[in-house]
Amino acid sequence: MKAFQLESFGLDGLAMRDIPTPVPGLGQVLVALKAASLNYRDLLMIKGIYDKRMPLPLIPLSDGAGEVVAIGSGVTKLNVGDRVAGAFFQSWIAGPITREKSRYSLGGPRQGMLATHVLLDEAGAVPIPSHLSYAEAATLPCAGVTAWNALFADDPIKPGDSVLVQGTGGVSMFALQFARAAGANVVVTSSSNEKLERAKALGATATINYNEIPNWGAEVRRLTNGGVDCVVEVGGAGTLKQSLDAVAYGGRIQVIGVLSGAVGEIPTTSILHKAVRLQGIYVGSVEMFNSMNRAIEANKLLPVIGSTFPFENALEALKLMESAGHFGKIVITIEP
Ligand SMILES: NC(=O)c1ccc[n+]([C@@H]2O[C@H](COP(=O)([O-])OP(=O)(O)OC[C@H]3O[C@@H](n4cnc5c(N)ncnc54)[C@H](OP(=O)(O)O)[C@@H]3O)[C@@H](O)[C@H]2O)c1
Repeated sequence: MKAFQLESFGLDGLAMRDIPTPVPGLGQVLVALKAASLNYRDLLMIKGIYDKRMPLPLIPLSDGAGEVVAIGSGVTKLNVGDRVAGAFFQSWIAGPITREKSRYSLGGPRQGMLATHVLLDEAGAVPIPSHLSYAEAATLPCAGVTAWNALFADDPIKPGDSVLVQGTGGVSMFALQFARAAGANVVVTSSSNEKLERAKALGATATINYNEIPNWGAEVRRLTNGGVDCVVEVGGAGTLKQSLDAVAYGGRIQVIGVLSGAVGEIPTTSILHKAVRLQGIYVGSVEMFNSMNRAIEANKLLPVIGSTFPFENALEALKLMESAGHFGKIVITIEP
């Protein structure tokens, strides 16, 4: 099989290699990948920022979809020919997260999706919605499930609620689509007016350019009559203060990302005065993945793919993500 292996940290450390195709063992399936998608985490992983001690060589990328081409002994629920995507955490099947369940994520430490084939656990190979192409299904495992977890897993948003999503990347565009499908109003921020127009076309009820309005928290409050019920917080250290301004009394901030850094000052008085709940979100379980797929199928939702690259141009795809030039998801198509 062909795979991009990370042999030393940094984009220059990626090399395309011919390596032996693995054979599925007990409870495993071999998937011929048709598409993979990028997440910001993949970039952090490749650069050695996510975990400097990650053992190399590593096939990066957590997200991909393809067809089951071989099954190991003990596999009972999947067959050759099934269309599946890999669950980000191969061992988080259901229930609350634990240290053990969150240990075996694809694309580090488990071998990932920037390859023609991947071994998955049977329980971690999730059947994909029938109306989605492989390219569309490849966007679901990390960004889709994270947005789903943030909005619906615990204390689901309700019709008429207001939600804030930051930027127009993968997690945020899924959150926009899911929240609109659930009948919520959605405010979208972006550095780009052109991207904000695209977000409006996807259903954004209000938009703010965060470069033009650096104190956008107050603007969110003005636009939503007192603040949003839920913030999908992907900015991290540089955005949390504004999110605390933007959130309504009694609202919640789903802490997901680190786009503007991981460590910063936290204005604790806003948290207590407004009785705000901060909830960490770490992708999600297979159970959440299946719930999300049912909603995607019922609403015939189509993931937002902004750019597509062939397998051999994977480096270009990663550089596009690095420059934040994309909208929604970046997909890599994989031929045998
Ligand atoms: N906790 C988890 O389980 C989990 C899961 C998935 C992702 N994440 C994290 O969530 C974040 C987003 O991931 P992603 O894959 O959706 O990223 P992405 O697709 O690369 O999205 C990046 C976009 O966010 C916007 N952005 C960049 N810096 C920003 C800032 N300082 N403030 C507001 N928006 C900013 C930009 O959009 P505009 O050009 O429109 O401004 C940029 O294009 C990352 O930090 C990632 O590591 C965490």
